[in-house]
This record gives sequence, structure tokens and C-alpha cells, in this order.
Amino acid sequence: MHIPHDSPIRLTDENATIAFGSRLALALTPGMVIYLRGNLGAGKTTLVRATLQALGYQGKVKSPTYTLLEQYEAGGLHLRHFDLYRFQDINEWEGAGFSDEFDGINICLVEWPEQAAGLVPPADLEIFIDILPKGRSICLNANTPSGQACVARLH
Ligand SMILES: Nc1ncnc2c1ncn2[C@@H]1O[C@H](COP(=O)(O)OP(=O)(O)O)[C@@H](O)[C@H]1O
Ligand SMILES: [Mg+2]
Repeated sequence: MHIPHDSPIRLTDENATIAFGSRLALALTPGMVIYLRGNLGAGKTTLVRATLQALGYQGKVKSPTYTLLEQYEAGGLHLRHFDLYRFQDINEWEGAGFSDEFDGINICLVEWPEQAAGLVPPADLEIFIDILPKGRSICLNANTPSGQACVARLH
């Protein structure tokens, strides 16, 4: 299933990205797989951090650049933040237990999913972030009913 994304959402500054993260937080449901796509510095980690903070997470939200995965419990949800930019060894996927994380309960937010193509389960929702001369723009692609319901709650 695929619905075409509607008009891009314009995020004029970092605060707008944070506000979008707060809206996303309210729209999440257990088990969702969300890909975050966009160049380095687009704001993928900023968005995840804002989402976690909106859910009430008070600790530090570090980029999982080297650890590849950070785990959070917030707002009654189990969240997993992947950054697969440095993922290389396909054996590491099972070795690190990553497939177990996609258990239908955890909400998995995945930066650079293409680095583990064929290993990462398909996304319910893809969030594309484009860097504009000033600010960012976001497009949403819902691929499943759960992704569609999430997008509907965002509007
Ligand atoms: N809407 C926006 N407009 C301008 N700058 C932004 C916006 N959203 C986030 N930023 C900035 O862009 C950078 C994004 O960094 P980061 O979230 O680490 O990107 P990524 O995880 O995509 O590599 C941060 O410096 C942040 O302050
Ligand atoms: Mg990042």
C-alpha cells in the first residue's frame, strides 16, 4: 500500500523541527517502523530527540553514530533509535540482535536504513528531510495502514 505524500511541510528553523517532533510524538503507535531519510545535518537526529523529549524523556539523547542503536522508554512507549550510517558488516545485524528489536512493540526510528538494505524491515512511514537554503522541508510517505493512520494524526 502506498499513498502519495501531500505537499511538503516547511520547517523554517530548528524550533520548527522540534515542534514537528512534538506532533510526531503524539501520532506514534507501538510497533511502528519509521525511516528517516536526508543528508548529513538534515535534522534526523534533531527530530528524534524532539520526539523523545515530547514524550517526556529527560535524559540526554545522543546520536547513535557509533553505537548504531540507542534505547529509550518514554511516554509508555519503547523506542529504538538506529543510525546505520556506519553499519557495514551484515553479520553484525543478527550478532547485535537488531532483528529482535523489530518486534511489533518497539517503535523503531531508523536513520540511514539504506546502509542495511534487505536487513531492516520495511517502513510504515518514511520521513524525508530536505535541506533548503533556509530551513528544511519534510515529506511523508506512508506505506502501511499504521503509517497512514500516523500521517492522519499529524494533520
Ligand atoms: N528546520 C531547520 N532549519 C535549520 N536548521 C535546522 C532545522 N532543523 C534542524 N536544524 C539544524 O540542523 C542540524 C541537524 O543535525 P542532526 O539532527 O544531527 O542531523 P542528521 O541527524 O540528519 O545528520 C542541527 O545543527 C540543527 O540545529
Ligand atoms: Mg543523525
